[in-house]
Amino acid sequence: MVVSSAPGKVYLFGEHAVVYGEPAVPCAIERRARVTVEERDDGALRVHSTDLTLDGFTVEYDGAADASADVDVPEALVEAAVGYVDAAAAQARDAADRPDAGFDITIESELPLGAGLGSSAAVVVAGIDAATRELGVQLSAREIADRAYRVEYEVQDGQASRADTFCSAVGGAVRVEGDDCQPIRDVPNLPFVIGYDGGAGDTGELVAGVRRLKEEYPFAADTVESIGDLVRQGERALEAGDLEELGRLMNFNHGLLEALGVSSRSLDEMVWAARESDALGAKLTGAGGGGCIVVLDETEEARTALSYTPGCEETFRAELDTDGVRVEER
Ligand code: MEV
Repeated sequence: MVVSSAPGKVYLFGEHAVVYGEPAVPCAIERRARVTVEERDDGALRVHSTDLTLDGFTVEYDGAADASADVDVPEALVEAAVGYVDAAAAQARDAADRPDAGFDITIESELPLGAGLGSSAAVVVAGIDAATRELGVQLSAREIADRAYRVEYEVQDGQASRADTFCSAVGGAVRVEGDDCQPIRDVPNLPFVIGYDGGAGDTGELVAGVRRLKEEYPFAADTVESIGDLVRQGERALEAGDLEELGRLMNFNHGLLEALGVSSRSLDEMVWAARESDALGAKLTGAGGGGCIVVLDETEEARTALSYTPGCEETFRAELDTDGVRVEER
């Protein structure tokens, strides 16, 4: 039996535009998915989850996914979760050259599903690490990131960047532009606060919506390019440790994402509550549509304001996690 864990992430800048080759800066946070893998000799795959939003969910299958889980979450989310785990198991079999290996997989996650904190990437990264180790193979963090990216690419119908999976595999703050993925060294202390509306967005649908908009309206394509320019400016602010400029650029980034149609009323309400509490900046994080915002605030004000915001279900401080994927038990 092997237990591996991998961190979730927030986007300081650049989600969505990164899918079209613009740079993005995701940052790993100290909230993790833990995946336990034990080999089975009958070749089947059994998945059990105690995830925040999939509590008590168990699926057993040997090929075709039966996602009829007895849980109070949209069927599409359960199917997507099963799809990610299935594809991660296939990557582990391929890496270990054990096409018939079966697994018992248990997922415990501190990351709500589909809420912009990189839950699927963390589960896939930790799952590939634990399953390959269980089969006696040890992959580097970069190899795990690459295989996890292939899983996201497959499950999201070819609409995925390397950002979430690379960040989860190596930890810390990273820069992703197309296939070029690099850790960012000497990052200043980033006082992140998260606001969570209790909801979720469908990443595939949201990415497809931006693609359609971009194809229909040249100014939507310009908006995507403007996000790229903003990220380059943000990288300079990050290097200079200029938190005020980072906050201003986060506000700008949220406005551009809103223009691309990926925000929601509750995300906007949380962003405005944080801004009115004098936070340095606030934006949605991840695919959008519902889920989480990320705020830069050195004080307790934003957290207090968010805790009184009707659309906000949970708010917490998130520290940058400099560790990526790691073995917890074996
Ligand atoms: C989702 O967490 C981030 C997106 O940019 C999609 C991706 O990069 O694969 C919306």
